[in-house]
Amino acid sequence: MKTMYAQSIIRNAAVYQWPSEQPQIMDVAIDKGLIVAVGDCSQYQAQQNFDATGLVLAPGFIDVHTHDDLEVLRSPHMLSKISQGVTTVIAGNCGISAAPYFQACAPVDPINLLGTKEQLIYPELGDYQRAFTLAAPSVNLAMLVGHTSLRAQVVEDLSQPANPDEIAQMKALLTQAMEQGALGLSTGLAYHNAKGSSIYEVNALAEVIKPFDGIYTTHLRTEFHGILDAMDEAFATAQHADVPLVISHIKCAGKENWGRAPEVLAHLNKQRKHQDIGCDCYPYAASSSTLDLNQVTKETDIFITWSETHPEMAQKNLQEIAAKWQMSLIDAARRLQPAGAVYHCMLEDDVKQFLSYEHSMIGSDGLPCDPHPHPRLWGTFPRVLGHYSHREQTLPLALAIHKMTALPAKQFKLEKRGQIKVGNFADLVLFDPTMVCDQATYSQPHLPAIGIDRVWVNGKLSYAGDADLASVVDYGRAGRFLNRTSKNN
Ligand code: ZN
Ligand code: CU
Repeated sequence: MKTMYAQSIIRNAAVYQWPSEQPQIMDVAIDKGLIVAVGDCSQYQAQQNFDATGLVLAPGFIDVHTHDDLEVLRSPHMLSKISQGVTTVIAGNCGISAAPYFQACAPVDPINLLGTKEQLIYPELGDYQRAFTLAAPSVNLAMLVGHTSLRAQVVEDLSQPANPDEIAQMKALLTQAMEQGALGLSTGLAYHNAKGSSIYEVNALAEVIKPFDGIYTTHLRTEFHGILDAMDEAFATAQHADVPLVISHIKCAGKENWGRAPEVLAHLNKQRKHQDIGCDCYPYAASSSTLDLNQVTKETDIFITWSETHPEMAQKNLQEIAAKWQMSLIDAARRLQPAGAVYHCMLEDDVKQFLSYEHSMIGSDGLPCDPHPHPRLWGTFPRVLGHYSHREQTLPLALAIHKMTALPAKQFKLEKRGQIKVGNFADLVLFDPTMVCDQATYSQPHLPAIGIDRVWVNGKLSYAGDADLASVVDYGRAGRFLNRTSKNN
């Protein structure tokens, strides 16, 4: 038998391919950034050999919902994500993207979640791409264009719908970004700087992405009582423009809304017969964002993560702060602005229903700028695998992997990713299926997961879980900016 050569070979790994729930044991050979052989690689010799006996090999995880736009430039080793096995992040969600964006004034809410004015310096997506290449992050990134980012640059009064001239300017910015490789458009209609926009305005922007084969993702106008109407609005926009839709971080928020996951999913399933709709979710019963006065109620436990005006009140409950100041919750919240918060606003059973729904993807929605972030930033993917799949048996491991890999690659058209297949990019994660678990908690949110053994990005070994974390800098940082069509990568 002729001997073949490859850079790396991973031998005897368990590989899952949904809808089969049983793994196949196989070898995978990597060379020049690509998967070159799958199955029996006994005729191959490699410089690096990994014995994966007892471990699972999966395509690198795709975090479909992130706010890592600037984090990949600030902290290019991206330990928060690579330590979870994430090899690709989709940025620009919830209506906020770091490009195209440039403003002389401080970023408005919630663009301030991404970074400071000094860091938001990319008037064109092409400028951002050049910065990305220079920073050489360890993960791949694809970008959505945020509606609120467009609004903040051209709309005079953000509480109002854009006028025809402003819509034309936003369309021009969006067209240019799509030409420069953006994946699509995102909105965050629940946020007060986007809430005032008309359906006409959002429809007009969605039309722009159609000829580019773009995708529309949305943080619904409400995730509370009126969620079904908000979903209908999203369906209508995507249908109007004839583009695929992704509902971001699907949830039933607020006590009056608890237990409605089956109803929400039935509504989604019904509409899926008429148009292409996906959704993403994270594995926690608490949400997090900037402090929103509309969400301040006695029923929801609100934890303040940061406050610009009262930094001494960070990491305290709003109740406690209000008591201390001897004022109502809403007055205390007003006084803390601008601020960040974690809202314990969901029912665990609803979270499980969204997680186990066959067509939901996994997205962390992690907030890297938050000094005391929601644990989803460091814990999302291992938590789905370890806590929900392995321990709670909420969903089969094969389905959990599918939601993190093949499904998002297909939904977002990330070519040659998301599957272990000859010719695909070698984005891979090797993990211990019985050990893998999140460590980050609400009180200690920065702890890396355990059980993630090795991570490769574009064929480069980029993380080793057993090594001292500091040594990660010695590994490759081979992430690429993924254009809408990755053929030209
Ligand atoms: Zn959001
Ligand atoms: Cu988000």
